[in-house]
Amino acid sequence: MRDPFGRHIHYLRLSVTDRCDFRCSYCLPRSHRDFVTPEQWLGAPDLRRIVAVFASLGVSHVRLTGGEPLVRRELGEIATALASVPGLRELSLSTNASRLATCARPLKSAGVTRLNISLDSLDPDNFRALTGGQLVHVLAGIDAARDAGFAPIKINMVVMRGVNDHEVDAMVDFCRDKGLTLRFIETMPIGTGGQQAQRHFVPLAEVEQRLRGRFRLSPAAMHGSGPARYFRVDDSELRIGFITPQSQHFCDTCNRVRMSVDGDLYLCLGQDNRVTLGSMLRAGASDADLRAAILEGVAHKPQRHHFLDAPGAILRPMSALGG
Ligand code: 5AD
Ligand code: SF4
Repeated sequence: MRDPFGRHIHYLRLSVTDRCDFRCSYCLPRSHRDFVTPEQWLGAPDLRRIVAVFASLGVSHVRLTGGEPLVRRELGEIATALASVPGLRELSLSTNASRLATCARPLKSAGVTRLNISLDSLDPDNFRALTGGQLVHVLAGIDAARDAGFAPIKINMVVMRGVNDHEVDAMVDFCRDKGLTLRFIETMPIGTGGQQAQRHFVPLAEVEQRLRGRFRLSPAAMHGSGPARYFRVDDSELRIGFITPQSQHFCDTCNRVRMSVDGDLYLCLGQDNRVTLGSMLRAGASDADLRAAILEGVAHKPQRHHFLDAPGAILRPMSALGG
């Protein structure tokens, strides 16, 4: 699929729940109430059907996101159903790792190929303040993922001034010691949580400069579908990535669309344009109908986000689409 700006769309991010066992302030504020009701959740058979249509249109990578995908009870069933879709080469997962200690192996067996893990702090108190969760479970989850043979495992750290920017060096050391890839992410003004996080915004060029005082960073390639710019750290195995949606937007190379748990296909994370595939499905749409609707959506994919000029535009929380 090509959109009007010549971008090749081959990556689908699939939110399997908008719920989460954490409450990261920049993503899912404690005050949030408006969750999708279970009757509207798409089940494994419907998801498989939709993903098969996407795959027939050239989508080769699906990422399972949330909320927190591991709080969805049917996650194993969903992963198994999607893993066998013809044409799909990657089935990846983004998680907060809180429940990964017991799930890493089963997910690997179900056919999940790669993992991204959110980790904003290595200090148990700071971690709790930031997420409402317990760091020990997350660390156990990360170890279980390594033991299960996931590689590379990418750690995502949203860098916030006065919140966790003092932990950047500790995170680098942690990831080097554990053989993990580390990615720094700039805050995005999505939902009230993301908009409030803007006051802690750190342009990542600043982090890069600081790290260059400590290490030699040389440009590196990295397997994946995303916009991160990667560097090799000294001569080590460690790779560090920078994801800069605000200071250096990467919309020109966007290759993805996203679907919410109730089947709304969002054409851009920073816009509200969407196609209601879930309600079409419930109304008895055929595969050909779904295919036509997806193509029509991609034909209207917005050119870019407007995080800088319209920072209050997106009201849905990040948890609705999982980044
Ligand atoms: N800005 C930037 N990143 C965010 N994430 C969630 N909300 C935001 C936000 N407002 C990140 C999470 C996770 C990924 C899926 O999205 O930290 O790593
Ligand atoms: Fe949950 Fe991830 Fe959002 Fe944190 S960032 S509240 S772990 S969905």
